[in-house]
Amino acid sequence: MTTPKNPSVDIQAVDGEPWVHLPNGSELRDWDRDSEIAYNQANRQTEKYRFYTRTFDFLTDNRVHGDYLEFGCHRARTFRMALTEARRHNLNEMKFFAFDSFEGLPDATSDPSVEIWKRGALATSEDEFLKMINEQGHFVDHVETIKGFYADSLTPALSQRFAEEQRKVSLACIDCDLYESAVPVFDFIEPLLQEGSVLYIDDLFAGYKGSPVKGVSRAFIEFRKRSRLRFVRHLDIGWWGRSYIAYEDPENLEVDLA
Ligand SMILES: C[S@@+](CC[C@H](N)C(=O)[O-])C[C@H]1O[C@@H](n2cnc3c(N)ncnc32)[C@H](O)[C@@H]1O
Repeated sequence: MTTPKNPSVDIQAVDGEPWVHLPNGSELRDWDRDSEIAYNQANRQTEKYRFYTRTFDFLTDNRVHGDYLEFGCHRARTFRMALTEARRHNLNEMKFFAFDSFEGLPDATSDPSVEIWKRGALATSEDEFLKMINEQGHFVDHVETIKGFYADSLTPALSQRFAEEQRKVSLACIDCDLYESAVPVFDFIEPLLQEGSVLYIDDLFAGYKGSPVKGVSRAFIEFRKRSRLRFVRHLDIGWWGRSYIAYEDPENLEVDLA
């Protein structure tokens, strides 16, 4: 049997121990770093796309109307998933905002454990990003890029513009790795959230050895304390992320569905 190309969807049950197919020594003889990267990416992007298919179904079924905002766009993998699922659900009014430096990460000040998270890592230019969006071919003229490091780009003037246009978040993807990147993102989206807005927080367990008191987890915990809304845990995305649904709690019930 050959090694499945897409392991997360192709795990195969077999008759007898160990009850699933596990590639043996000869099947993995030529396994190298590139194989590992491809394997991880196939697993990860499969989980992410499953999340997008479920969440766009959730949003349309519940009549949550609004826009898609992505903070951390890089290779447009998740952005293309959003465009594709929006197309499948005929969300013709949706706008898609891509917030990124388009120069990669800023200098990290919060001591992540991933040594490659240095200034300029994970860079995709705006032109490259838009080329991938154009090739995908869905809602191309509904896409707007907002270029810059969040500390500079998420200005009061931009908040005011979004307020004047009465923009609301349908789905926000927060995929910017660092604590210091996520803090201004949460503040920017707060006034745009409505009941039913979904937050996909990609790096809840990434980059800081899974510690909930560091990184994007910490930024989210701090944000929850100052938000006017509450957030119920919804879907898990792989080992790294989770989504939450915003809701109002005027009776202060503080339910815990966990
Ligand atoms: C992990 S990548 C995003 C992957 C992307 N969602 C995809 O599916 O291809 C992280 C991105 O966050 C951006 N980023 C991180 N911190 C930022 C900041 N403070 N300001 C602007 N962009 C930032 C980087 O430029 C990079 O494109």
